Order: sequence, then structure tokens, then C-alpha cells
Amino acid sequence: MKTYKSILILVAFVFVLPVLNASNPFWGVTGHRTIGKIAEDYLSSKAKRKIEELLDGQSLALVSTFGDDIKSDKRYNEFYTWHYINMPFDVKYEDSEKNENGDLVSGIEKCKQVLLDKNSKKEDKVFYLKLLVHLIGDLHQPMHVGRSEDKGGNDIQVRWFNDGTNLHSVWDSKMIEHYNMTFTELAGNTDKISKEQIKYLQNGTVADWANETQQLAIKVYGSAEVGEKLGYNYMYTNFELVRSQLQVGGVRLAQVLNTIFS
Ligand code: ADE
Ligand code: ZN
Ligand code: ZN
Repeated sequence: MKTYKSILILVAFVFVLPVLNASNPFWGVTGHRTIGKIAEDYLSSKAKRKIEELLDGQSLALVSTFGDDIKSDKRYNEFYTWHYINMPFDVKYEDSEKNENGDLVSGIEKCKQVLLDKNSKKEDKVFYLKLLVHLIGDLHQPMHVGRSEDKGGNDIQVRWFNDGTNLHSVWDSKMIEHYNMTFTELAGNTDKISKEQIKYLQNGTVADWANETQQLAIKVYGSAEVGEKLGYNYMYTNFELVRSQLQVGGVRLAQVLNTIFS
């Protein structure tokens, strides 16, 4: 009996715990859902109605993870590069060498195009709407607009408290998980912003927003050394930016949807 128990514990350590602990290489589910939930508060009633029709009543928060869910299905491999843009620090999107398979900005534009086309089939509109909700989220994760050399920080190994991880993952999910709020709690505890601030945030093109996120990425690259142990102090210094990006992402997602469904 004792041996049986020891084997069970051993199996848990060797096989189960590493899986539970595996890092999710994308703006984690909580980040995406928070952005979807915040956007719902800023939708026009017309946009809300048309979106409800397309999504059969599913919420933006629910469909926000769709872009990552389909990554496990090879049929959707063509969308892989749409989740990020890699640009050198001194190059703006307009002047950057484009990924021929598409990137975050061109991906978002493609989604908008399908949704605006009267001749698009409903199932295509549903697919690209779900993808759009996801990609506007990714556009606000600084490390999704990072450098190609280190794959947006995926190749920059750091420690998160006592676990080995990378800088991309810290910004996708480690900090949000550590903060330990659900997506509804995060969405319900945003900072107050004025009508003028909302207007200011919703101004500009998708490329402008990508350039803005790139500036944040440059700061994030400067925030940690390779191999550094990050923890409480990193949270204290950086989590306000995560909260702010989730809010800005939500406000802008609503703007994009209000314009499409006007
Ligand atoms: N995810 C996978 N590859 C990436 C890259 N090159 N930049 C940012 N995020 C990524
Ligand atoms: Zn990511
Ligand atoms: Zn993604």
C-alpha cells in the first residue's frame, strides 16, 4: 500500500505537475477575457445587437480566446503569425519589413474587411469576429510587438519567483495570474476614465496602436535582465501597465466593433 502511494506521488511529480505548471505562450485567457468584458461596457446598442446575433448570444469575453484555441488545430496554421508583429526598435509599422504570412495589423485589417463585406457568409463573419476580438487583445500585450531576434521575449529566460520562464510569458500571464483576480473582477475594477480620455484612446489607426505598443515593448525589454529573478518588486513596478493595457485594449476593441457595426 505504501509503495502504491509512493508511486502515485512520483507519477504526480514527474508527469502531472509539469503539465499544470506549463506556461501558456499567449496573453493568457484572463487577459483576453478581461479585454472582451471591458469592451462590452463601451459598445453601442446597435453593435451589441448585431454581435449578439452573430455570436448567438455568446459574450465577447467567452469568444476572446478563440484565436488561441484554434492553434492546436493544424487546419488553422495559416493564422499563426497574425498574433504578433516583430519590428526593430527604431522602425515604425509603416516602414517595417512585412511578414508575408501576415501580422497583427494586417490580420486585424483582414478581419475588419470580412466583417464589412455584405457578401461574406455568416460563418466567415463569426470566425473573423472571434479572431478580431482576440487579436485586438494581443495588440495591447507589449511583447506581441517585440523583436524577432528573441521572438518577442519568448527566448529571454527569466525566473518568476522560483519557476523558470521567459519574459514573454511574464507579460502574457504570470503577472496576471499572480494578481489573482478573475476576469470579471479585473474588468470591474478599472480606473475611472473621462469621455475625453476615451475619445483620445479610440483615436488613431491600428498601425498607430501597434507603434504605441512597440514603445511599451522597448520599456519592457529594459525592465529585466536575462536570467533575472522577478517577483514582488517586478509586480509592484509593472502591474499598473498591465491593468492599463487591458483597459485600453477593451476601450479600443469597442471602438473597432462600433465602427464595423454602425
Ligand atoms: N509568439 C510566437 N512567436 C512570436 C514572436 N516572434 N513575437 C512575438 N510573439 C510570438
Ligand atoms: Zn503571447
Ligand atoms: Zn494570440
